[in-house]
Amino acid sequence: MNGELQVVDDVPAAFAREVIAAFSSRVGEEFDIALSGGDTARLCYERLAAEAAHTIDWLAVNVFWGDERCVPPDDPDSNELLARQALLERVGAANAVYPMRCEESVDAYQLRLGEVGRLDLVHLGMGPDGHTASLFPGSAALDADECQLVTFNEDPSGRNKHRRMTLTYAGIARARLALFTVSGKAKRPAMEAVLAGEDLPAGRVRAERVLWLVDRDAAPRSLL
Ligand code: 6PG
Repeated sequence: MNGELQVVDDVPAAFAREVIAAFSSRVGEEFDIALSGGDTARLCYERLAAEAAHTIDWLAVNVFWGDERCVPPDDPDSNELLARQALLERVGAANAVYPMRCEESVDAYQLRLGEVGRLDLVHLGMGPDGHTASLFPGSAALDADECQLVTFNEDPSGRNKHRRMTLTYAGIARARLALFTVSGKAKRPAMEAVLAGEDLPAGRVRAERVLWLVDRDAAPRSLL
């Protein structure tokens, strides 16, 4: 596993604190953040919206996505919809919003990321199977070429629905901070496996800094 693991009581609160700190360290410059999907992400965005509606200058924030399900943007499974409802509509505005749209090519998204250079923060979750973003165990995207930042992918096990667009490891590695939020008992076995160095997708993530915010239910027993 790469990076630092913090066991926290309240993952959404810790997430909001880290995003505010990362934003504050970039004063005067634009802040590029890639968002995630899933239930933990929703709680994190709601908390961030509540705590940072005024502490973050949202007109300096450019919003990207780390992965997206290939569904219409108003589909209940859309990560874009989740972020709009839980965060963007609550804070009012952002400088720019770059949804991943499966009907556009991955090259278009990759070009946009290329223009940005580094992403300040990439938010990531982890599934009980150890996937992160839409990098699923045994899937083709795990072996994407280093020059490919974005790709389409599918879960070969069929457990996670929908075709996806996702950042690759190389795409995530552009982050100054890759920030994992992991919550709940169902995640403990994967968290223990990642800590033990087993080869699960989430454990392979690299970035300038990788920080895992993990609650007590998900934390490896050896850390409690
Ligand atoms: C997605 C995600 C995915 C998610 C994890 C954790 O679009 O599904 O980006 O990687 O973050 O599956 O999701 P939960 O918090 O719902 O367990």
